[in-house]
Amino acid sequence: MTFQKNILITGGAGFIGSHLVRLMVNKYPDYRIINLDALTYAGNLENLKDVETKPNYAFERVDITKSDEVQAVFAKYDVDSVIHLAAESHVDRSITNPMAFVETNVIGTVVLLNAAKNHWKDFDGKLFYHVSTDEVYGTLGPTGLFKETTSYDPRSPYSASKASSDHFVRAYFHTYDMPVVLSNCSNNYGPYQFPEKLLPLFINNIKHNKALPVYGDGKYTRDWLWVEDHAAAIDVIFHKGISGETYNIGGNNEWTNIDLIYLLCDIMDDELGREKGTSKELITFVKDRPGHDKRYAIDASKLKNELGWGPSVKFPEGLIKTARWYLNNVDWMENVTSGAYQAYYKKQYDE
Ligand code: NAD
Ligand code: TYD
Repeated sequence: MTFQKNILITGGAGFIGSHLVRLMVNKYPDYRIINLDALTYAGNLENLKDVETKPNYAFERVDITKSDEVQAVFAKYDVDSVIHLAAESHVDRSITNPMAFVETNVIGTVVLLNAAKNHWKDFDGKLFYHVSTDEVYGTLGPTGLFKETTSYDPRSPYSASKASSDHFVRAYFHTYDMPVVLSNCSNNYGPYQFPEKLLPLFINNIKHNKALPVYGDGKYTRDWLWVEDHAAAIDVIFHKGISGETYNIGGNNEWTNIDLIYLLCDIMDDELGREKGTSKELITFVKDRPGHDKRYAIDASKLKNELGWGPSVKFPEGLIKTARWYLNNVDWMENVTSGAYQAYYKKQYDE
């Protein structure tokens, strides 16, 4: 079968990647979607059970830092487009092991750029799309929003590595005329997020009556976006984005951590049939994250005005759906919280 496009999605077994793979496989049967993922602790093929037998889906277990293996995938599928999400994605891990972030996020991205440049004899109909984060912009005071023109000011090893990879992608646009597009998105939430990140971690802890470790005073602000809205934005930018451009993606949904946790606790009390106030008793203020960014908030008006995308799911509906998904998917939670996760977190949070 000949496909209209052969799209390599990296990191497709992760949180956002699995939602994007599902959307693209189902919405575009004429596109072949090749999911390239190393299956680190954060990648799980169970996230994609419903698409794995589709004729337009393929999986390759490959580490993006391995140049020969990446080039072989480009050749095997005659890849014409890349949507690059594979990354080390957790800020706390970047503080304890920055080098893993340099290797995957920086070197891995350059390996992919080189593989694309070598395989693409010309750039007609080609695109390298880099999925990035708003954390590259640093931190905001109480007012203002990140715009596409905001200067980069990364402050964690994670955001520094993502900023570096963004710069490499833009360098390939300017130096080699490679068609590229970038998007920088705020915090995502929803099903299939590895439970080291705030919301799935706290949902799981509440269920098991474990402490909720709130960093510092909890007065840190994040802009939360429903993960399927992010996948929908990537679809729009992939098809309609202008080469060389960057698009900010956000939920217009700012919450301080502590207010978000209070809301989650109320929702969890309802869902678990517990007396209101029970879950809040689990809140424990712990030592702050070093270099903790105070506030992230996105101005997504360029994406709305130029390409017509806007978020569709808001709080509390999205948060209720999220809590229910983790409560209903006990097998998934048990599977991903075994092994590597346990070893890492036992040290930090077990009394
Ligand atoms: P995730 O940690 O859930 O998934 C990352 C995936 O990449 C996993 O499947 C993992 O196996 C794979 N991977 C890691 N190292 C690899 C390597 N060396 N080779 C091949 N595959 C490898 O991450 P996520 O939250 O889904 O984030 C996806 C992308 O979106 C990342 O680039 C991240 O920076 C960006 N992003 C995330 C958020 C968020 O809120 N989660 C927000 C904005 C941008
Ligand atoms: P996180 O989900 O790690 O995303 P990011 O750091 O990329 O924004 O954290 C979201 C916020 O929640 C962030 O301000 C750190 C805070 N946080 C806690 O207070 N306790 C926790 O156990 C975790 C994981 C995060």
